[in-house]
Amino acid sequence: MNQSGEITQEALDSTQYSTASIRQYESVFGEDFVSPGGYEMAVELIGKMKLERGSRVLDVGCGLGGSAFVMAREFGLIVDGIDLSKNMLALAGKKLSGYQLAKCVKFEQGDCLEMDRSEYYDAIYSRDVFLHITDKSRLFSVLNSLLKPGGKLLFTDYCCGEKRWTDEFSEYVKDRDYFLHTFPEYVKLISRAGLTQVDHQDLTDRFIVILQTELSKISGLDLAEPIRLKLAQSWRGKLDRAGSGDHRWGLFTAIKAS
Ligand SMILES: C[S@@+](CC[C@H](N)C(=O)[O-])C[C@H]1O[C@@H](n2cnc3c(N)ncnc32)[C@H](O)[C@@H]1O
Repeated sequence: MNQSGEITQEALDSTQYSTASIRQYESVFGEDFVSPGGYEMAVELIGKMKLERGSRVLDVGCGLGGSAFVMAREFGLIVDGIDLSKNMLALAGKKLSGYQLAKCVKFEQGDCLEMDRSEYYDAIYSRDVFLHITDKSRLFSVLNSLLKPGGKLLFTDYCCGEKRWTDEFSEYVKDRDYFLHTFPEYVKLISRAGLTQVDHQDLTDRFIVILQTELSKISGLDLAEPIRLKLAQSWRGKLDRAGSGDHRWGLFTAIKAS
């Protein structure tokens, strides 16, 4: 953790996002993705933003660049991706040159909390990144400042249910250094930063279906047996926690006031 209590690049790159772990996640989520639903979910959510071609979008925690590539290729958007993990961006950069999308997609290594580009983006998109960030008030205040008036925010994130956490769920969250919120808490945090038309959708049922599909995929992956077993165990754990209502998955949208 750094002095503000936020996870550091070194911590991410040496644990959850070591290059080996990223490759394992990618084999489950699908090429270029490290988030539930992979390509299909990205296409659906990017479509929901209803942006004009040529709009400028920030992908916060862009990971391997999957969503940024879809935005550029299939929606004609101009995308900046920022990610704290050097390992992610080393892989994303290679993919970017391979896909020849450098005219419309740029990647930057850094902490989104430190971004300072006033009223620059037509939209901010983020997929399952904010779980890593402690200071959500600062996060939404920064994102609000980066958006042009009328600009759109859309993100998905791991959330928690309203009931008291089980010991097993607390241990999982602590082990991952996640900072999870309930849906109402998230709505409050986004609204307090000055964003308007804040809306949310509970995607947990969808999450469960995605996890089941991913779990069956894991058994057929060409990975060493211990890794395959570890992944399957991790996915079964997510399914249990989502099924019991502890772990939830939310979609949030908001607009910067004009
Ligand atoms: C679960 S991965 C999702 C990657 C990508 N959004 C996707 O859908 O494939 C979370 C990403 O958030 C990044 N991240 C975590 N904290 C961050 C921060 N403060 N600023 C920028 N990126 C961050 C991690 O390095 C990681 O690549």
